[in-house]
Amino acid sequence: MPAADTVQLLQAARAAQANAHAPYSRYPVGAALATPDGRVFAGCNVENAAYPSGTCAEAGAIAAMVAAGAREIADLVVVGNGPEPTTPCGDCRQRIREFATAATRVHAAGAQGVVRSFTVDELLPQSFGPGHLRPAP
Ligand code: THU
Repeated sequence: MPAADTVQLLQAARAAQANAHAPYSRYPVGAALATPDGRVFAGCNVENAAYPSGTCAEAGAIAAMVAAGAREIADLVVVGNGPEPTTPCGDCRQRIREFATAATRVHAAGAQGVVRSFTVDELLPQSFGPGHLRPAP
């Protein structure tokens, strides 16, 4: 992905992060993903007084992508405010994996911007995926 596109995704992720509902953790997160045809979808974490009902930023971005009819993630940026880049939680690694290819890149960003980029296989090695349920003939 060209650097300029990563910058655009980071901007989209930060815009969503600004709308995060995170009164309990006080850890607002934004995520933005690009599809191979260049569409961008963003999400933020939405916490809940019943804590386990909260949702992650990546989940929101993926839900927006799916609702729009898209099914493949080319690049995804996740951003938090901490000094360390925010990397996707375990559940979100699996959510991303569902719509990932070998070319998908996940970019972890913090207060200083994108710090590290990963393949999905690096984040979730030996993963379980759609191919397990629909093996090639
Ligand atoms: N969070 C995300 O939105 N994405 C992640 O991948 C890591 C964690 C949120 C969940 C919760 O609202 C807050 O960050 C603190 O865990």
